[in-house]
Amino acid sequence: MRCLGIETSCDETAVAVVHGTRLLGQKLASQADLHALFGGVVPEIASREHLRLIHPLTQALFKETGLTAADIDVVAVSRGPGLLGSLLVGLGYAKGFSLAAGKPLVGVDHCLAHLLAASLETDLEFPALGLLVSGGHTQIYILRSPVDFEILGRTLDDAAGEAFDKVAKLVNLPYPGGQYIDRLAMSAEPDPKLFPKPYLDNQNLDFSFSGLKTAVATRVAANPHLRLDRMSGTSQIEANAELAVMLASFNLAVAETLRIKLQRALNRVGKVRSVIVAGGVAANTLVRQFMTEMALENGVNLRMPSPWLCTDNAAMVASAGLQIYCRGFVHDQRLEAVPRGKA
Ligand code: KG4
Ligand code: ZN
Repeated sequence: MRCLGIETSCDETAVAVVHGTRLLGQKLASQADLHALFGGVVPEIASREHLRLIHPLTQALFKETGLTAADIDVVAVSRGPGLLGSLLVGLGYAKGFSLAAGKPLVGVDHCLAHLLAASLETDLEFPALGLLVSGGHTQIYILRSPVDFEILGRTLDDAAGEAFDKVAKLVNLPYPGGQYIDRLAMSAEPDPKLFPKPYLDNQNLDFSFSGLKTAVATRVAANPHLRLDRMSGTSQIEANAELAVMLASFNLAVAETLRIKLQRALNRVGKVRSVIVAGGVAANTLVRQFMTEMALENGVNLRMPSPWLCTDNAAMVASAGLQIYCRGFVHDQRLEAVPRGKA
């Protein structure tokens, strides 16, 4: 069965077709460079770009794969969470496709799609424990099946990716800053005493990253040389060794916090058949290393998508849509966007 996936929840316009667990093709246009000029995503620009790009990308996808609308069995679209205007573009396009081609429509929770994406690369065994770490969310899930899940803990303020992006902005690294911090952090030895591991002094499975971000802000304010000169581009980054240590220490505090809370969740839920770690921050080198170690220590199957499948894409939407559809769930033309919360 072939599923067309459509993703427009934030600043990536993406379409993909999966056949079972096989990716037949995908097209993705990132707007990151455009929003970088403003230091973050500008919702109106994002919506307009999705509107401009969604049809040409789909045409290019069909051309490349040699498929036509008649070859598609089901259409899946991210219905939220995300930016309302952006979501509406994807939803409108998906509804139009569904109507014109006479194919069923499935609205997909974007966060769940991140977690279920792992099935494109490996079998997902349930029950599974899931850690979603993205720019908008940091959540721990227990998944009994692709359609039966519960959120056990979430961030009380900033998401992990948001903390990466805000810290990057504080030192004038480009947007989105996670990948730059990752690269710099790997070039330096972290100082574990520089920043506290945030929000561990409790028994819950929630997260809070805003205090850590404030600690970095305070440090940068007291040490202005840690801030890069915005005009001189990225060439000066490698030369600032003290900045690299600070970012490595921040990176370590986030990665350790994620590991400790996920271990706590694992201890609490008991036996699971797999642990899924997904979302943009799951592309982080140290996070991947810590999660791999944690899985080995606990003897659990780690399902962590490849870095390209961790950040926003439509393959994950198509895959999740198909898994949901195959369990008997379908929407119709009344499908609504759910910009916040569970879809
Ligand atoms: O999942 P995603 O593409 O979009 C959302 O659904 O939010 O996640 C984007 C987030 C951004 O905050 C970005 O800075 C972060 O993931 N990110 C990373 C890395 N790659 C992307 N954070 C840390 N290390 C990375 N290598
Ligand atoms: Zn995402």
